[in-house]
Amino acid sequence: MKGIILAGGNATRLRPLTKITSKQLLPVYDKPMIFYPIETLVQAGIKEILIIVAPDYAGHFLNLLGSGSDFGANFSYEVQQKPGGLSEAFIIGEKFIDGDSVTMILGDNIFDHNFSEHIKNFESGAVVFAKEVPDPERYGVIEFDENKNVLSIVEKPENPKSNYAMVGIYICDNKVSGFAKSVKPSDRGEIEITETINQYLDKKELKVEIIEGMWEDAGTFDSLLKVSNLIAEKERGVRNQ
Ligand code: TTP
Repeated sequence: MKGIILAGGNATRLRPLTKITSKQLLPVYDKPMIFYPIETLVQAGIKEILIIVAPDYAGHFLNLLGSGSDFGANFSYEVQQKPGGLSEAFIIGEKFIDGDSVTMILGDNIFDHNFSEHIKNFESGAVVFAKEVPDPERYGVIEFDENKNVLSIVEKPENPKSNYAMVGIYICDNKVSGFAKSVKPSDRGEIEITETINQYLDKKELKVEIIEGMWEDAGTFDSLLKVSNLIAEKERGVRNQ
């Protein structure tokens, strides 16, 4: 199992914080944001990790993260010239994936969930992860049956069919790069992740796992502050034990 961290993007919602740097280099309490998805992958047993970054900040990531040895991992880097959508991770990463399975995580998604069992048990197809939220209409919404077979995934629906949001980590088999390449850009000019994942759904090869615990996408001022506070509280709790 290989790992990809998608850490490009424009981060317009965090301007002016992101005018001269990448969102994923901003602090989340006591660490740069990208440390969290790295730790999520490493904790899950993934050591071969491709980090995809925006051209302006590639050197900063390399200076910060280096070879990956500090994390007990082996990092490779690729540049995404402009934000063409989440599915591009699988196209840019095709050579790196090299016929293996891959777990792709978004560089601004912060989890308090151990994914090692899901990764150990993964055989083929794809697995997406769902978290119950009070405001599903803001997310990709997953509808599924009692056997965790996905029935539909709809991006920001007006009438959500469930309260479960699709979070920013995806486990896919080696068909994913081919699927991503067949996706046409949407109205906002991006090749959307739902379009790639829905090709597994069409083949009835898509499963969902529900995650408990914290999940935040740290892409807005409020969520960045919230996740920093949650982590600070957790760290203080650990220190005071
Ligand atoms: P988003 O939050 O959807 O996009 P963004 O980071 O550019 O922010 P904004 O909407 O405020 O402009 O991206 C989610 C994650 O995926 C984030 O870590 C950046 C990354 N990303 C890329 O690396 N490349 C892309 O083409 C896109 C769309 C996102």
